[in-house]
Amino acid sequence: MGSGEVRHPIFARVFDRLSRGEEDAGQREHRRRALAGLRGRVVELGAGNGLNFEHYPDTVTEVVAVEPEPFLRQRAREAAAHAAVSVTVVEGVAAALPVDDESCDAAVTSLVLCSVPDQAATLRELRRVLEPGGELRFYEHVLSPRPGFGRFQRAADATLWPRLAGGCHAARDTLAAIERAGFDVERCDRFDFRPSILVAPATPKILGLARRPATRPAGAAAPG
Ligand SMILES: C[S@@+](CC[C@H](N)C(=O)[O-])C[C@H]1O[C@@H](n2cnc3c(N)ncnc32)[C@H](O)[C@@H]1O
Repeated sequence: MGSGEVRHPIFARVFDRLSRGEEDAGQREHRRRALAGLRGRVVELGAGNGLNFEHYPDTVTEVVAVEPEPFLRQRAREAAAHAAVSVTVVEGVAAALPVDDESCDAAVTSLVLCSVPDQAATLRELRRVLEPGGELRFYEHVLSPRPGFGRFQRAADATLWPRLAGGCHAARDTLAAIERAGFDVERCDRFDFRPSILVAPATPKILGLARRPATRPAGAAAPG
């Protein structure tokens, strides 16, 4: 296995099959909303089977879509061939994005910050590749603010959920992690969306825009 691979062969095939139904159940509209208004060069982390690609507006000049899982990467390449904007699908992992410092106008994460091994390190990488002032667009499932549901999510994480769902965690406070990583959150909608009973632990969602601050703190060097 190359250093840029994540192997979840069974999950990848199940996800590829189930995800189509989730799109029809309303996820397509959430993706469209998450990506509306993007422009310039975009890096997409953990692109899966490429379900975002059809939603990039024509103001996007290039998408670098990073996907470590071989089966999903192949599916993403097939989706990229039909996309209206230029999408290059590459192997890589969140901890070491194959993208230069400050080379992207925007970064996209959808349903992926739940699965990366280290959210803080991932968000540092996303900051590194964004230009100062660049946008992070996120559509993620998160820890519920309702204590009872949060207990259910923690129980799922402590038992079968990560093993069944390709390393996913249901009880992460991803918005807090984005803020801790130094992004300014400009908008964030919270809502429940459960396209199927099988993904009940992943019901609470956030969708929004955070920005890498345009100026570095005095004396801070450029990343890299
Ligand atoms: C639930 S899928 C979501 C796929 C896609 N982003 C979407 O919105 O449909 C989670 C994705 O995260 C990817 N992933 C898991 N661990 C990763 C890592 N360490 N670095 C990058 N991507 C990772 C998986 O391969 C998979 O494509």
